[in-house]
Formats: sequence, C-alpha cells, structure tokens
Amino acid sequence: MLKIAIAGFGGVGRATANLLLSRRHRYRRIYGTDVRLVAVCGSNSGLYDANGLEADRLNTLEPALTGLDFVAASGADILIEAGPSDFRTGGPGLAYIRSALSDGRDAIVISKGALVHSGRELRRLATGSGAMLKISGAAAAALPTIDLLDQSLLGCNVLKVEGILNATSNYLLDAMTMRGIGFEDALQEAQAGGFAEADPRNDTEGWDTAAKLLIIANFVLGLELAMDDLSVEGIQSVTPRELKAWAADGLAPKLVGSLVLEKGAVRAGVGIRTYPPSDPLAHVGGKSKAIRVTTDAMGETVSMSHGTEPLATAAAALKDFEHIVSTRSADRPLS
Ligand code: HSE
Repeated sequence: MLKIAIAGFGGVGRATANLLLSRRHRYRRIYGTDVRLVAVCGSNSGLYDANGLEADRLNTLEPALTGLDFVAASGADILIEAGPSDFRTGGPGLAYIRSALSDGRDAIVISKGALVHSGRELRRLATGSGAMLKISGAAAAALPTIDLLDQSLLGCNVLKVEGILNATSNYLLDAMTMRGIGFEDALQEAQAGGFAEADPRNDTEGWDTAAKLLIIANFVLGLELAMDDLSVEGIQSVTPRELKAWAADGLAPKLVGSLVLEKGAVRAGVGIRTYPPSDPLAHVGGKSKAIRVTTDAMGETVSMSHGTEPLATAAAALKDFEHIVSTRSADRPLS
C-alpha cells in the first residue's frame, strides 16, 4: 500500500486529492498498488467533503492533523505539498518538505516558494536520504517544462530558454490588446478564472514567471540562480499607447522569462518581448503558456499548453506521482 499526505488544501490541494482518489483503480491496475490518502493538512481542510467521492474513499481522510508533526504523524510514503508560495521565506511548505525529505519520504511539490528559497538544500536532503523530489506542478504545471528539458532534450546542450510561463499576465496582455479592456477589468476576469495568484502582483510584476524560470534553471539545468540574479520587469506599467503601437506594427507583446547560456555565462530575466506573426510565440493567446528551448543538437523545440485550472495543475503533480510509483516499482515491489 502507498500512503499519501497532502499539505496545503486550497483549490489545487483539493483538486489533487479528488483526482488521486478517482484514479485509484488505475494505480492498482497499472502498478498493482493500493493508494490511500491518509491525511490532509491546511487551514480549510476541515471543510473537505465528499464532493462526489464514494464514502469508502472519504474514510481514508484524517483532517484533524495539522502543524509540523503532520508529515511524520501521517506515516505517508509521499507528501504532496500544495500550500501558498512565499519566495522570501519559503512559505509554510518549506518545513513540511524538509521534514518529508529528511525522513526519506518522497515529495511532490506544487508551490514555488520553498523551491525558490531553499532549492539547493532540498535537493541535497533528497539525495542524502534517497527520497525523490518532483516539481512539475511548480514549473508551469500543465506546460511540460521539466519533462521537456530532462527527458525529451536529454543529452543536448541548452543554449536558450524562452517561456511565456504566467497565464495571468498573458491573459491580461491579450485582453487589453485584442478586446481593448482595462488592466483592472482584465485582472478581475483572470481572478474569476482562478488562475491569478492571491496576490496578483506576483503575476503582473513578473515574480511568478521569474520563480518558474529559476526553478527550471536550478533543478534541470544545474544552475544556482537566486531571484536577485534575474532582472525582473512585469506588465503593470504597460500603457494603452504602447499596446496600440505594437498592434499597429503587427507585433504581439508577451511577458517572457528568458535564459541565455553563452560561453559559461548566464543571462536571465523577465520582461515584455514583442513577436511578429511568423513567430509561434506570437500565437500563444489568452491564458495559454509556452516554452521554447534552443539546443545545440536538436535546434528549437516549442511546447504550448492551454491548461491553467486547478485540475491541470493537479494532473501535472500526479504525473510526478506516477513517475515516482513506476520508478519505485522497478526498484522494489511495493507492498
Ligand atoms: N498564477 C499563475 C499563472 C498560476 O497565472 O500562471 C500558478 O502558477
């Protein structure tokens, strides 16, 4: 049996719990293992209800567990961390992830704070204890970024990464340019859509893009960037006049995180770039995200995704879950 605990029980944590439980038959069929959600922890975990789940599945929940003892007390094999992101402190998730990895429990991290703040420490903890640390949900989730770099492009030297990594800012730029609506109105639409951050300045001022870029750089490309190493500009100061001028020139503005690796040096930053219609990134509209990677041997690869809602993020985290289960199954039979 494989025991799962979820720390952080907002929209994404709940979506992950529901999806995990709805896929239990799949896990049994493919991996021959029973998956049980043994504990959830979050400020609103007491509100968790059946939400369409079968009664026997609900019995696996122990919503009373809270606080730092949560991870050890849960007895979980795998922690899924879906709490709020705080880039300055690592957020509440940092202590939970530390605790899990120190004990040799695998961790699937969805929030970005701990990975930005203490990524190196967490990688070392995982290596030291033999735990697996998976981060797809924190690195643009439904958009394959980690997989693209560490699987599809494995063996190539990465020369450049360019990413439209934040759905909210892309949605805002698109809405203001194509529909001529104001910044605040467009932001309200993004918040109603559930993809803008609780503090939308992380989205509009470029910090969410910077965090995702940094996580990709440090966890897959072997870099050791800190937020201070990135020049970060957002979309908050863009004017209707600029938008009109770009549109008149046939250019599409995008908030882009970019990383250039050249002769041993790294240039990384976030800012608005404008693309002509001949460029695939010009066509990444609405709340979509995309990444373009340039390598020495495989040239350019572009990947794009429309999935931004909590279900898509949950599915990205559970992709990590299946990678862990299949790797562990190959290592040793799961009881
Ligand atoms: N607020 C983010 C976005 C989603 O708009 O892409 C979570 O990373």
